[in-house]
Amino acid sequence: MVRKIGILTSGGDAPGMNAAIRSVTRVALSNGIEVYGIRDGYRGLLEGNFEPLTRKDVSDILDQGGTKLGSARLPEFKEKEIQERCVRQLQDAGIDALVVIGGDGSYRGALALTKLGINCIGLPGTIDNDIPGTDFTIGFDTALNTCVECVDKLRDTSSSHHRCSIVEVMGNRCGDLALYTAISCGAEMVISPETGYDELEVLERLRYLGEACKKNHAIVIISEKVTDVDDLAKKVSLQTGFSGRATVLGHIQRGGSPTSKDRMLASQMGEKAVDLLMEGIGGQCVGIIDNHIASMPIEEALQRPRSSRKRLYRLFDRLV
Ligand code: ADP
Ligand code: F6P
Repeated sequence: MVRKIGILTSGGDAPGMNAAIRSVTRVALSNGIEVYGIRDGYRGLLEGNFEPLTRKDVSDILDQGGTKLGSARLPEFKEKEIQERCVRQLQDAGIDALVVIGGDGSYRGALALTKLGINCIGLPGTIDNDIPGTDFTIGFDTALNTCVECVDKLRDTSSSHHRCSIVEVMGNRCGDLALYTAISCGAEMVISPETGYDELEVLERLRYLGEACKKNHAIVIISEKVTDVDDLAKKVSLQTGFSGRATVLGHIQRGGSPTSKDRMLASQMGEKAVDLLMEGIGGQCVGIIDNHIASMPIEEALQRPRSSRKRLYRLFDRLV
């Protein structure tokens, strides 16, 4: 029977992580289970940096961005000896199970701990929406809304000045943030790891939009790490009828109060994590699949291919 659980947030933070911490804490407490918050991801686990959480400790955090527990990256957590030291820290504190909120790297850590005897459940927390085993991650919707708000503003000024705005969004090699932003904002182009990048084609398309289609502005949404956007903007100015301007949205996408969608998702996923631990289940991750909260073994999730979003890319093409 599970009596004490720990909770930690790991990897890049995401809006809604606090809502998940609150949900796990309150659902567990209402089932008579004690909850310990672990500071700064696996680093706090290694250092034994634990604090008991009460209902009151998680008051007023539902609407807060970031993570109350702090997050960190600990590359050496991949080593078995470090994992074993973490297990000893948990055992010394009497913590018998763990909820890990993070990305696929954090899931791998959770799986390793489960194999060493501590049942862990992974919750998908990242703005990138790049975690297999779920249609949506905690934080994606908030980041998307931030992107949409920013691009709507850029559109105002781009259209006044006959400019092409090249907007770089995050995603860590996953194009979902770019694609969903592009559709939501009516962008002229989307460039992502899924579309691939051909600079000549991009410039040709922009020339066509300006000259043949007589567009007075253009918005290009591009995923980070695809190309240097400042360089692309200069080429746009030189080789198309538009004056190019690059905007990197950067870490602003990681902050802010979570949307109601992310709060709901986090609250439901937190509840599911506690239910699984109470059933004595570990090594699983929680997701939302076809609008239902579900869970599956982490090993299975990590092997699943991510959707290539073919239908949404086709929709984008039909809308421009
Ligand atoms: P994310 O969880 O968002 O994918 P990272 O890839 O940075 O973020 O992983 C977060 C942390 O998870 C890492 O700093 C490390 O402590 C742990 N981690 C990553 N990969 C592994 C792995 N293969 N095995 C065990 N732990 C891992
Ligand atoms: O995984 C979230 C994310 O914001 C990615 O979109 C981005 O590539 C990366 O983290 C940035 O990491 P850092 O916080 O180290 O700048």
